[in-house]
Amino acid sequence: MTAMSAVGIVEVQTDQRSATVSESRVREVVEAAVAKCGATREDLVPILTEINHALGYIPPEAFKEVSHVLHTPIGQLFSVASFYQMLSTKPRGRHLIQFCESAPCHVVGGREVWTALQDTLKLESGETSADGKWTLRTTSCLGVCAVGPVITVDEDIYGNITPQQVNGILERYE
Ligand code: FES
Repeated sequence: MTAMSAVGIVEVQTDQRSATVSESRVREVVEAAVAKCGATREDLVPILTEINHALGYIPPEAFKEVSHVLHTPIGQLFSVASFYQMLSTKPRGRHLIQFCESAPCHVVGGREVWTALQDTLKLESGETSADGKWTLRTTSCLGVCAVGPVITVDEDIYGNITPQQVNGILERYE
């Protein structure tokens, strides 16, 4: 098994994730994001990234606030947020597991690893466990095809993994 530090992976934040975020907290986070990134439409993705980073996802109230600040329709903001994989419009678990489903990983045993992940977590792609610990999702190539099959857990990348190693990897996370 190869464990590498995150290179080019933008999934972060394991704290402050919660199914409910107060409106005042959302406002505070949006204001901080705008102060840091700017308040033009060109700043939209950095702003949304900051919010996602701070809250673990982008709640509806944040879309409303950003829409107001940038004078941009909420639907447009939502489209942008849905386009970028590193952004989430739904609350996530404390840990995000991403499984590479692209062909190079698939042909070296990815399917078996995916089955092991699903069997262990009892989750489908895009689902979050009832205890709020895990969110599981599939993704396209993570850029480290030479060590497939590949999964990431938060900022950690695991390559050359086998189905038998899945449990051991998951046990590393609280
Ligand atoms: S195909 Fe899986 S990391 Fe590239």
